[in-house]
Amino acid sequence: MTGSSTSPILELRNVNKSFGPIDVLHDITLQVRAGEVLCLLGDNGAGKSTLIKIMSGVYIPTSGEILMDGQAVRFDTPRDASEKGIATVHQFGGTFPLMSIGRSFFVGVEPTKGWGPFKVFDRKKANHIAINALQSFGITRIDDGDRLVGGLSGGERQSLAIARAVHFGARVLILDEPTAALGVKQAAHVLRIVNEAKRRGLAVIFITHQVMHAMAVGDHFAVLIRGAVAADFRRGEKSREQITDLMAGGETMADLESQIEGYMATHDGHPPPTHT
Ligand SMILES: Nc1ncnc2c1ncn2[C@@H]1O[C@H](COP(=O)(O)OP(=O)(O)O)[C@@H](O)[C@H]1O
Ligand SMILES: [Mg+2]
Repeated sequence: MTGSSTSPILELRNVNKSFGPIDVLHDITLQVRAGEVLCLLGDNGAGKSTLIKIMSGVYIPTSGEILMDGQAVRFDTPRDASEKGIATVHQFGGTFPLMSIGRSFFVGVEPTKGWGPFKVFDRKKANHIAINALQSFGITRIDDGDRLVGGLSGGERQSLAIARAVHFGARVLILDEPTAALGVKQAAHVLRIVNEAKRRGLAVIFITHQVMHAMAVGDHFAVLIRGAVAADFRRGEKSREQITDLMAGGETMADLESQIEGYMATHDGHPPPTHT
């Protein structure tokens, strides 16, 4: 299946977002398709989190349209978005360290949605469902649903959160910097899970500022700079160097050197402090 030939599940058309006088997003137009990973790239402050908050019902756009399956929709609350199958997984998996795997799997799930067959919490059944979901994503090392979420590695927690979203019928999976706090092995693990979600036909929106992680899973890339889509391209159309340069917002080494010289000239010859 070639992603670009299918119609988008979720689409933004000319979306703007302001907070009072501050314009954060400018005229964002983007499409996400089933079985495809859209990587949203951009430096700190570019507007990535604001953009995904619009897709997940946390913020309402100041102007512009959101469409699902070609129909205009409006998400007034995160619940509206989640009822339409949009799931967001945050950097730390958003799970509860002191809860068991089985219990955390069903937190916030309404009795009518999949929880139906059991009236009271059935620990064994919940554990079984949660462990099966995890194992179906290739996390075969975990076989005890009574284990506490807090004892899982960062990558395993992310995997649990993704498996949970998929189990409860997510169609669009939004991952906000899922690999940012992880080591190489753990990150590779999460990237495999992303590929598995894609294989199952979900549309995945993967937010990162790590170009290598984006290139490992992305079918489609959008680079945000100061709240606008500065580049929009498909896998294979740009090299790693080109993507890195785009993310730097067109700043060349010469620009950086002259900024550093300017700083030193006004700070007794001290170089600027380094930051992450
Ligand atoms: N609620 C808000 N009110 C005012 N400004 C905001 C608000 N949320 C975000 N911003 C501003 O919007 C810009 C983009 O922020 P954000 O979406 O968090 O970027 P990113 O996730 O790419 O780092 C930043 O300059 C930030 O200060
Ligand atoms: Mg952010």
